[in-house]
Amino acid sequence: MDRRKFAQLLTCGGASLPMFQVAAAEQNSAKEQTEKKSPQQAKPLPSEPVNVSDVRLLAEAKLPKATYDYISTGSADEITLRENIAAFQRMKVLPPLLTGVSEPDLSTTVLGQKISLPIMLAPVAAQRMYHREGALAAARAAESAGTLFGVSSSASNSVEEIAQVSKGPKWYQLYVPKDRTVAKKLVQRVERAGYQAIIVTVDLGEWKDADRRNRFMLPKEMLVKHLQDTGFQQVSNKMSYEDVIAFNAQAWDVSLSWDFFKWLRSITDLPVLLKGVLRKDDAEKAVSMGLDGIIVSNHGGRRLDGMPASIDMLPEIAETVGDRAEIYMDGGIRRGTDVLKALALGAKAVLIGRPYAWGLGADGEAGVRKVIELLRAELLNAMIAGGCSKVSDVNRSLLLSESR
Ligand SMILES: Cc1cc2nc3c(=O)[nH]c(=O)nc-3n(C[C@H](O)[C@H](O)[C@H](O)COP(=O)(O)O)c2cc1C
Repeated sequence: MDRRKFAQLLTCGGASLPMFQVAAAEQNSAKEQTEKKSPQQAKPLPSEPVNVSDVRLLAEAKLPKATYDYISTGSADEITLRENIAAFQRMKVLPPLLTGVSEPDLSTTVLGQKISLPIMLAPVAAQRMYHREGALAAARAAESAGTLFGVSSSASNSVEEIAQVSKGPKWYQLYVPKDRTVAKKLVQRVERAGYQAIIVTVDLGEWKDADRRNRFMLPKEMLVKHLQDTGFQQVSNKMSYEDVIAFNAQAWDVSLSWDFFKWLRSITDLPVLLKGVLRKDDAEKAVSMGLDGIIVSNHGGRRLDGMPASIDMLPEIAETVGDRAEIYMDGGIRRGTDVLKALALGAKAVLIGRPYAWGLGADGEAGVRKVIELLRAELLNAMIAGGCSKVSDVNRSLLLSESR
């Protein structure tokens, strides 16, 4: 399939690329997205969440169905989505006894920046759909928890708006405007606003049945703001929704090649990370081009279905890369023990997507903070049990070998 056709396909899904749903049934979807579930569908709700699953239930109860599904579902048959969770569950921890550890230090550094725990917020699109304060609430929560916010270029607030509410560390995730003048200006704004790195997300192939079924779409005002925030000043609320969608569909470069990084390097000195790596040859290429970090990721099972769990690909990528670049991973982190397992297999830190999006939907800034604190407490417990007094103590000897 040629790339143009592929890009058109992407516009038909509620993609986390900045190409949201083509409004086939605009009139229905707005209603569907604001409909509440009937009382008989309601599940008993936890009064106080004790884990990420509880937060998920709270978000499900609060959000319109199409919005909750947009966050929670994966592509096609959701094989990869399930596998991200199942792979962690298959992996067994075998901690040593009597290690004398009682107060582990969870802090670590990412690209030289100190964070209070090895869990960061992944770039997540359309956050104002989950809570009125959107990414501003997530940014504040990350700062108060002492961690880093990966800001999606589709987050629904501008680079500057997010920087204004949070002095905490931030990496900007770039979807690349075709117009390189717009792209260059955007990167310069990211630099001026004090972000510490750029994440380039390149994994394509989203095909979410639930979003097509729900006719999920970004409200016009949000799509216009998103395009204006990127630097497309020619877009305005005066345009028809169809025109805005048509503009959006052709505005982004979805046919990047490795050469893009040469261009990016020529316009910025910020560290660059590649997100979406699952193959060791891609990891090798990224490192040999001098990229600073790699995020092992399958986009949370939202891209091409049938790809393996990120955690299953982490060991061979970590081995290939060694200490030539920093390695992070995301996909399926729901427990502190998952974080421990990822660190043991070579990740410097992990990122979470859905868990904090559910937190945001359930209770705004406080909900995001709650998710981070739940995972912090679980990781602390796992580190004590594993006899690790600091993050760098976590290693493979804590895991039962694959053959057992
Ligand atoms: C609702 C939603 C929107 C997302 N939007 C983006 C995005 O704009 N850019 C990006 O690089 N990744 C995006 N992702 C992927 C996340 O950054 C991350 O890779 C993934 O959520 C990790 O899996 P997890 O949800 O199991 O933690 C999105 C994920 C979700 C759940």
